[in-house]
Amino acid sequence: MALFTPPISLALLTLFSSIFASLILKTEQCHPIDSSALLEFKNKITDDPSGILQTWNQSTDCCASWEGVQCNSIGRVVNVSRPGLFSDDIIINTYMAGTLSPSLGNLSFLRLLDLSDLKFLKGPIPHELGKLRHLNFLFLNQNQLTGSIPLSFRNLTSLKRLYIDSNRMSGVIDSTIVESWKSITELGMSENEFSGGIPSTIGKLAVLTTLDLHLNNISSSIPASIGNLKNLKNLDLSENRISGSIPTSFGGLSALEVMYLDHNRMTGSIPDSFTDLVSLQFCRLSENRLTGCLPRSIGKLKDLNRIVIENNHFTGEIPSSIGELTSLTDLYLSNNHFGGKIPASIANLRNLQTLEVSKNRLSGPLPPQLVKLKQLQSLDLSFNPLGLVSIPRWFSKLSLFRLLLAQTGIVGELPRWLSSSALSTLDLSSNGMTGKLPHWIGNMTNLSLLNLSNNGFHSSIPNEFRNLSLLMDLDLHSNKFSGNLGIIFLKRVNDPRGFYSSLDLSRNMFVGPIEEDIGNHYSMESIETLVLSHNSLGGSIPSSLGNLSRLTRLELMENGLVGEIPQELGEALELTSIVLSSNKLSGRIPDKVLSLKKLSAFNVSENDLSGEIPPHKAIFPASSFMNNKGLCGSPLPPCKHH
Ligand SMILES: *[C@@H]1O[C@H](CO)[C@@H](O)[C@H](O)[C@H]1NC(C)=O
Ligand SMILES: *[C@@H]1O[C@H](CO)[C@@H](O)[C@H](O)[C@H]1NC(C)=O
Ligand SMILES: *[C@@H]1O[C@H](CO)[C@@H](O)[C@H](O)[C@H]1NC(C)=O
Ligand SMILES: *[C@@H]1O[C@H](CO)[C@@H](O)[C@H](O)[C@H]1NC(C)=O
Ligand SMILES: *[C@@H]1O[C@H](CO)[C@@H](O)[C@H](O)[C@H]1NC(C)=O
Ligand SMILES: *[C@@H]1O[C@H](CO)[C@@H](O)[C@H](O)[C@H]1NC(C)=O
Ligand SMILES: *[C@@H]1O[C@H](CO)[C@@H](O)[C@H](O)[C@H]1NC(C)=O
Ligand SMILES: *[C@@H]1O[C@H](CO)[C@@H](O)[C@H](O)[C@H]1NC(C)=O
Ligand SMILES: *[C@@H]1O[C@H](CO)[C@@H](O)[C@H](O)[C@H]1NC(C)=O
Ligand SMILES: *[C@@H]1O[C@H](CO)[C@@H](O)[C@H](O)[C@H]1NC(C)=O
Ligand SMILES: *[C@@H]1O[C@H](CO)[C@@H](O)[C@H](O)[C@H]1NC(C)=O
Repeated sequence: MALFTPPISLALLTLFSSIFASLILKTEQCHPIDSSALLEFKNKITDDPSGILQTWNQSTDCCASWEGVQCNSIGRVVNVSRPGLFSDDIIINTYMAGTLSPSLGNLSFLRLLDLSDLKFLKGPIPHELGKLRHLNFLFLNQNQLTGSIPLSFRNLTSLKRLYIDSNRMSGVIDSTIVESWKSITELGMSENEFSGGIPSTIGKLAVLTTLDLHLNNISSSIPASIGNLKNLKNLDLSENRISGSIPTSFGGLSALEVMYLDHNRMTGSIPDSFTDLVSLQFCRLSENRLTGCLPRSIGKLKDLNRIVIENNHFTGEIPSSIGELTSLTDLYLSNNHFGGKIPASIANLRNLQTLEVSKNRLSGPLPPQLVKLKQLQSLDLSFNPLGLVSIPRWFSKLSLFRLLLAQTGIVGELPRWLSSSALSTLDLSSNGMTGKLPHWIGNMTNLSLLNLSNNGFHSSIPNEFRNLSLLMDLDLHSNKFSGNLGIIFLKRVNDPRGFYSSLDLSRNMFVGPIEEDIGNHYSMESIETLVLSHNSLGGSIPSSLGNLSRLTRLELMENGLVGEIPQELGEALELTSIVLSSNKLSGRIPDKVLSLKKLSAFNVSENDLSGEIPPHKAIFPASSFMNNKGLCGSPLPPCKHH
């Protein structure tokens, strides 16, 4: 202050304010280097059907009237933002085709370049973009860009957020490029074809919060240096070919909230340091080859919401401290080698909605405390030696939507309390259940999947079955069900839900002809799988099956079916598999059926078919046609023409 006498200070103030006024009120016109760089970019755009660049024209000022272009006070372009999906009031989904012009590298003041979601930008990222020393934000995601990240990107030292996900980029991730992105906080490179390992220089990106490399072709093991990323919150390395074990250094990721390492080839056990990930909320390690036990101290991770570690080789008992994870909503442990009992402490998980522990070696008895899980919606205990004997009565107090108890040692009849449950999925398959399919099954109107296969049920299908108007998948195979199938096809439909998707009624004692109108029933409109094999069905194959436009798999083997194969079957264009063996079918094989475009499996062996096997593109072995006295022609021996 003392340096300036009042008059000088006043003069300076006047001077400054006039400069500021000219800067703020009268911004400079667009710099010619910038406007020609942008026009050159527009020049390389071959299709712009929704006019994303319509306002960019030579006779107007790029700073004043070009949409998506923002300049600084000296007329230099700092922001270019023309994403394909943008939302002010309405969401406009648009596209733009063409390549990225190298001229963009001349926008030397650029801080933000957003050309994301334009869907049809092709070709490589020009190395000239490496000249943009001030660039903070680069968004080129959701396009069809190819090639690798240009080496010149080493010079993008101001980069804070880079998203190039969902393109077709390839090549290894260069360690020197990564190292130079000292200011980067978010790095999104997912859904490309990047290969090679994760460079260990990644550990130098001290301010990184998000690293997303999912769905690439990344291999090798995760570098130990990753543990240096003290600010990392989101890590997604899923769906790659990453091998090796989870580095011990992972414990250093104290800010990590989301950790997705699923669908890789990782081995080894979860390091003890795992329980230092005190911020972890979402943990996915599923579909790997991980071994060893869950850390005993897992209860320390108080923020954990979801644990998804199914399909690995984990062993040991489920640690009792898991009951301390009071934020837990979902626990997926299926298909591992967990043994011992389900710890009673799980009953403390008041927020638990999903408990899936199928395909392990868990033994009984089930802790009855689990009745306290009031939020539980989905329970899968299938394929464990639980020796349940009956479905525990206290299950009726849970408000489950999904209950799967396949091969858990249940015997006896379906308990009546099921009739008042709101279940949408019920799987009691592969048990020793007996008795009838009761009339009250018609009260279970929320059922969308019912699997009673591999049991000893013996009854006909009660009329009330028609009330299951949301049922889509029904599997009753390998029981002793008898009577007519008709009721099943007459099922009501609660449009748009409740159309059958799959029906497996095989290996039962169903009788009678297959209903002539089977393919015209409302319930059958979108069925994909229909398996009626190994029953005592007689009559002929209904031609209405040809009306099932989504049918991919039709299996009718080992019934007493007579008559010809209806040529209308050739109208079910989605058919990939037709199995009609071991019946009494006669006549010729219709051309139209054997030439179905998607047909890859066909079997009519053990019938009374005759005539020449029609020409077909797919390769079927001779065993598909064997033991039909009158059939001839490739792949069987040639026909004897008179
Ligand atoms: C540029 O835009 C102005 C105003 O929108 C328009 O009048 C003019 O015809 C355009 N020029 C070209 C070359 O498209
Ligand atoms: C450029 O975009 C950034 C990030 O969206 C924004 O913060 C900045 O205000 C914009 N600059 C101008 C001059 O509009
Ligand atoms: C960049 O600007 C320079 C100088 O204005 C010009 O000569 C050059 O052609 C421009 N480069 C591109 C790729 O447009
Ligand atoms: C990075 O910038 C420097 C100086 O501008 C230049 O000499 C060098 O070639 C650039 N590096 C790459 C890889 O483009
Ligand atoms: C993935 O990388 C391996 C080599 O590591 C290569 O053999 C394979 O072709 C790549 N796959 C794809 C889809 O790029
Ligand atoms: C079906 O489920 C809904 C909730 O999705 C529930 O309100 C309804 O009571 C259930 N119906 C039956 C018959 O359980
Ligand atoms: C029913 O359960 C058996 C195993 O017990 C399984 O193989 C089959 O796929 C299941 N069916 C459906 C429709 O889920
Ligand atoms: C089946 O539904 C009808 C009406 O759709 C109803 O009158 C009948 O009580 C239901 N039967 C059972 C067993 O739920
Ligand atoms: C089935 O529903 C009917 C009508 O809603 C009801 O009268 C009957 O008691 C129910 N049966 C059982 C076993 O819950
Ligand atoms: C197939 O469906 C059409 C239209 O609903 C119907 O006219 C025709 O009779 C059906 N075909 C057979 C063989 O049932
Ligand atoms: C066709 O069915 C017969 C009888 O079940 C079987 O022996 C044969 O292997 C089957 N062939 C093919 C190709 O599926």
